[in-house]
Amino acid sequence: MSGKRLILMGPPGGGKGTQAKRLQEKYGIVQLSTGDMLRAAVKAGTAVGKQAKEVMDAGKLVSDDLIVAMISERIDEPDCANGFILDGFPRTVPQAEALDKLLSSKGIALDKVIEVAVPDAKLIERITGRFTCAKCGEGYHDKFKQPQKAGVCDACGGTDFTRRADDNEETVTSRLKAYHDQTAPLMPFYKEKGLLEVLDGDRPMDAVTADLERVLGS
Ligand code: AP5
Repeated sequence: MSGKRLILMGPPGGGKGTQAKRLQEKYGIVQLSTGDMLRAAVKAGTAVGKQAKEVMDAGKLVSDDLIVAMISERIDEPDCANGFILDGFPRTVPQAEALDKLLSSKGIALDKVIEVAVPDAKLIERITGRFTCAKCGEGYHDKFKQPQKAGVCDACGGTDFTRRADDNEETVTSRLKAYHDQTAPLMPFYKEKGLLEVLDGDRPMDAVTADLERVLGS
């Protein structure tokens, strides 16, 4: 499959990042994670990072204008020409409307919007157990995906791991609230356009991947 343009939606900790990385590898389309972009900006201490840090640490949503400007610039880069997976964007109705305008101004259309649905009760455990390799960004979980050799990254052999500042129980509650209040209204928005596919994300990672591949085809 080439030239696919997807949105992967779902609650915090629902598995968007995990699945987007697998799809990126299988289909050769690039993962565009607004969360990763913002964390990189925070780490680099840029103006965007300074603006976003406090909002992210509180589990709230960064301003639509800032996010739309960031995505608009990123989508113009050459690696997006073969298709992309939007992971964590859009997250509000104004962001979805801005994306529509942006894509139609470039003469491109979305192929699918896929919601990976997971009940709230499962998300706290997923989020509080998450850690990543500091060197290559490979994702792990205390219970669901441990490195084969304890303390050593399977992907790159790195031995430093990090946990996100917003991966704690208090922040998860506000992230879930933001999801239900501001992002869930996007499902009817995309359903009406005939683009929405809802998958059960409350299953082992490989089962979710198989479902995604079934929806996306070869
Ligand atoms: P962002 O980075 O997008 O965070 P999020 O939406 O809260 O999603 P996560 O990255 O936490 O979860 P995920 O679905 O990718 O799950 P993962 O695959 O890692 O955003 C962070 C912040 O940035 C926001 O709060 C906001 O402030 C800001 N922001 C970002 N985009 C924005 C936007 N568009 N507008 C405004 N603000 C924005 O999986 C989680 C864990 O579970 C992992 O450890 C994984 O190993 C494990 N796991 C995955 N799948 C399974 C499975 N099937 N079974 C068991 N375990 C699993």
